[in-house]
Amino acid sequence: MHITLTVNGAKITIPDGASVLDAVNASSTYISQLCKDPDMKPIGACRTCLVQIEGQRGFPASCSTPARDGMVVSTETADVRRIRRVVLELTLAMVMPEAASGRVGEVSPSPSPSPIKGEGPTPSPSPEGGGSERERLVGSGDGGPSTGSGRADYATADFRELTAAARHHDLVAPRWAPRQREPIDTSSPVFNIDMSACIMCGRCAQGCQDGHQFIGAIDVLGAGQHARIGTFDNKPLVESICTTCGTCLSVCPTGAIHTKEQAALPLSAMDTEETRLNRGARA
Ligand code: SF4
Ligand code: FES
Repeated sequence: MHITLTVNGAKITIPDGASVLDAVNASSTYISQLCKDPDMKPIGACRTCLVQIEGQRGFPASCSTPARDGMVVSTETADVRRIRRVVLELTLAMVMPEAASGRVGEVSPSPSPSPIKGEGPTPSPSPEGGGSERERLVGSGDGGPSTGSGRADYATADFRELTAAARHHDLVAPRWAPRQREPIDTSSPVFNIDMSACIMCGRCAQGCQDGHQFIGAIDVLGAGQHARIGTFDNKPLVESICTTCGTCLSVCPTGAIHTKEQAALPLSAMDTEETRLNRGARA
């Protein structure tokens, strides 16, 4: 059975049981959906998929709102854009623009004994007015507005889906200081977990657990501003039950979980059956 609703004036027919977000996506309208993996259940954590629904109070998260026949949904009214923009600004305040640059190949010389224990140092802001540090991190000459905080802006920082959402809402510069950071877990030979680029959407934990892989190596640990992605008993990733399946890597919307530079990988980690087959195919 199917239902028909209206999204930004266009009639959309979708299967009964689908969400409002499914309807928005079916209409080919862009809307941020940072914590919703297409293949997993909604988490409802990021609140960046807010919409306006005629006759309904507030701005519900479209990913967890069931679509109903005859609904009239708007994604781009001034009100809903304003609210979503603020949500995105708060989300952007969770990441350090510096974390988006140089992430490939960023490998610590050796993992600290427990890279996820304790609190990381509070990062120093970039030089006032976007000086050399900023240029080193996000490039020079982009003309991004100064925030007054002296921090690098998001004009050239690549946080993948978060950057796309920020650009859609004309967000360039951070308005608030970031939260305190935890050290990067660089212990895995294949990928890093960098909380400086994490928005705590929970997709990696969901993918690792019952959303996909049923491994349960990583989860959301702690609460409030100390919440972070970590492993059971605060162990470095390499000492956990992580199988390096890559699910967390593939679902992370910001690149907080990112691969190391290939050259940094030991051959044993690279030489999977797949790479052997690929080599054979190219030969
Ligand atoms: S590491 Fe990535 S997927 Fe996991 S919570 Fe952070 S942003 Fe989301
Ligand atoms: S995508 Fe709907 S709350 Fe995150």
